Amino acid sequence: MLLSVHWIGLAAALSCLLTGEVWCDCTEDNVQIEGGHYNLTKGLKTGSLLTYHCPEGYYPYPAQKRVCQLNDMWSQDSTSSKPQKCRVVECPDPKVLMHGIVSPPQERYFVDNETTYQCYSGYTMRGSSRRVCFPNGKWSGSTPICSRDSGNDCADPGIPAGAFRRGNSFRIDDKVKYSCKNGLFLVGSSERTCLENGQWTGTEPACYYKYTYDTPLEVSEAFGGALKASLTTLEPIDDTQEGRKIKISKTDTLNVYIAVDISESIEEKYFIDARDAVVQLITKISSFSVTPNYEILFFSSDVYEVVNIVDFLDGKTQLSTVKADLEKFKIDNRDTAGTDLNLVFMTILERMAFIKQRTGEEGFKEHRHAIILFTDGAYNMGGTPEPTVQKIKNMVYMDQTSRSEKPLREEYLDIYIFAIGALIFDDDLIPLVAGTGGDHYFRMSDIRSLQKTFDEIIDEEEVKGLCGLHKEYDTTKRRENYPWVVFIVIQNEGRVMKCLGSLVTPMFVLTAAHCFTFGDLPQHVTVDIDDMNGRRTKKVKNFFLHPKFNVKAKVNEGVEEFYDYDVALIQLVDYVKISTLARPICIPCTQETSNALKLVGESTCKEQEQLLLKNHLESLTFLTRTNYLVGEKDVHAKLGDNRDECIKHALKAPGITTNDPNIPVTDNFLCTGGLTPFRDHIACTGDSGGAVFKNYEQRTVQIAVVSWGSENLCKGGGVVESTKNSRDFHLNIFRVIPFLKSILGNDQQDDYAPLEFLKN
Ligand SMILES: *[C@@H]1O[C@H](CO)[C@@H](O)[C@H](O)[C@H]1NC(C)=O
Ligand SMILES: *[C@@H]1O[C@H](CO)[C@@H](O)[C@H](O)[C@H]1NC(C)=O
Repeated sequence: MLLSVHWIGLAAALSCLLTGEVWCDCTEDNVQIEGGHYNLTKGLKTGSLLTYHCPEGYYPYPAQKRVCQLNDMWSQDSTSSKPQKCRVVECPDPKVLMHGIVSPPQERYFVDNETTYQCYSGYTMRGSSRRVCFPNGKWSGSTPICSRDSGNDCADPGIPAGAFRRGNSFRIDDKVKYSCKNGLFLVGSSERTCLENGQWTGTEPACYYKYTYDTPLEVSEAFGGALKASLTTLEPIDDTQEGRKIKISKTDTLNVYIAVDISESIEEKYFIDARDAVVQLITKISSFSVTPNYEILFFSSDVYEVVNIVDFLDGKTQLSTVKADLEKFKIDNRDTAGTDLNLVFMTILERMAFIKQRTGEEGFKEHRHAIILFTDGAYNMGGTPEPTVQKIKNMVYMDQTSRSEKPLREEYLDIYIFAIGALIFDDDLIPLVAGTGGDHYFRMSDIRSLQKTFDEIIDEEEVKGLCGLHKEYDTTKRRENYPWVVFIVIQNEGRVMKCLGSLVTPMFVLTAAHCFTFGDLPQHVTVDIDDMNGRRTKKVKNFFLHPKFNVKAKVNEGVEEFYDYDVALIQLVDYVKISTLARPICIPCTQETSNALKLVGESTCKEQEQLLLKNHLESLTFLTRTNYLVGEKDVHAKLGDNRDECIKHALKAPGITTNDPNIPVTDNFLCTGGLTPFRDHIACTGDSGGAVFKNYEQRTVQIAVVSWGSENLCKGGGVVESTKNSRDFHLNIFRVIPFLKSILGNDQQDDYAPLEFLKN
């Protein structure tokens, strides 16, 4: 016995030596967990944090975390001295269903347990009739509700698993109140009121155990929905007045305040993940046309301001430098011992007061504010932030207490809290959230999933009018990487022509004019695009070739087939439904493209061209059909001094007898292909009409249309490399803007919303 005690002591001393500490406070005696493991933030030193980890579907019990205290002892869960073990996750009691049967009836429900729900006769079911208990402590699907038509104004709001509800009358102004059973706490609205429009205020509450977490998908849907709602309300909209469509720009300004807890209650490596997640969030927000002002804070006992919103207002800081500043920020040598959550809100309140002072009372009315806080909620200094949050609310709500104005002002303030960590102080955090329209409180065990969460939040189908927005990472649906690509088939008297095209508005497709032959009619043309309506093949109303396109124009000059102005627009019968799978590409010289390229103020077509075709070799991409929908072909447009060498290879193309390459290859073409300085890919038959494009952050801009090549190296598509002499010629869209504008920008018709082209 003595020996083993001695050995335990020695092992502890050794690990102290190994971590370079001369002083050793706690030991690893009696901290083990059955079925799991633990991690220490500072070895066995005073203040070190011990976090228990269990496999998926289990949670640590009774303690989730322990701290090495000044008395050399690990803190103990006060309620229990039971041995530490991993317990199976439970889901809240589903037997709260009214007017129906839950089977099987059990005392408790564990991970993977299944339940089914049936309504009594005369009642109909909404929600899920079958639910499974998930490893995060939540039931799959949605709350089942059995109700019958009883002339109420609002629908029965149901009772979430684990909850009690007071209130069974659902007429206008009636209230229902929720609470949770023992051992659970409530997230969401504890009280809801039936409104005149038949909707309930707030969001459906849920009952959480201390180990219940939101999955990244749940968070991205909920937070993304709310964020998108604020961002899209700020985007310019099209409106119709006296039969004409006009664009209305919103004057509201969005201020985003991001605060990240870096105190030692947050594990240190979380800091990097949190920082990367913030960068990801800002990148995501930047793909909207709205440009918010940012305040970015890290905090512990002190507040470290990485980005000051006042610098943003003054134009002293830009988005690009924000990201760089974030990446430079290190936590070394900062005092991370305490946590002062109140100081964070006080800092934000000060910044708001400053903005208000700048803009004046009236100007401040047009400022929206979103506060996004990442923390576990453990604070040991500064007191509760609740009074400060109340001051923030008062400032934004502008003391509008009348019933009609208050909800309107409430839309101007959102406080989102991402509660992260093994031990979250929910009771302190939940009262701090604010805002309308969806959840504002998210509970996550791990900050690493946040980046993915933020990546997913805005690529959903509700985001309209963002040309070129696409997913950049591999998804199971390849269309999401190229949501603008369409497949065109023209069938006329036994002749079949296949081309690619690009969706440029919800009703128009851009392709090559040479895909069409004299005598083709709209009914010979089909456009294939999967827009989630299920109907993949779209009917064509009309098509328009560039008026100057004339294949035979230069027969007398030694060019049998001349492809200048090789562009055409196809008008569809119906709008394509915009979603992650189908969305227009950005085309040059439009306002939307300037937004995508973040050109501020009154930008010009020339500025766009200088930004997109700025180098002597510009790296571009086009697509080809493959078994996996499409493959990418990487090419380099040879511009400036490189152009002459490139276009001279056109002379070897069949049907060309002239010695002047400038006759077949006018200034309207971009030249790609060959082996130097890079081996390019080469176009195949069937790639014609496709977009030659460039990605700018999350947005794709079309630069040219695939037109013709000097050699036919491949038929029917595929990713094929160029040979030494093979070259392709793509029609530069910057050269055909008047044609595109005459159709897409036509505001003298009411069939479709016109694109806004730049004046210069
Ligand atoms: C805890 O430590 C183990 C090694 O002991 C490591 O594999 C694991 O990733 C750590 N867990 C967390 C959540 O940091
Ligand atoms: C519910 O889950 C528990 C724990 O995994 C298991 O022992 C029990 O058999 C399950 N009950 C049903 C009906 O599947």
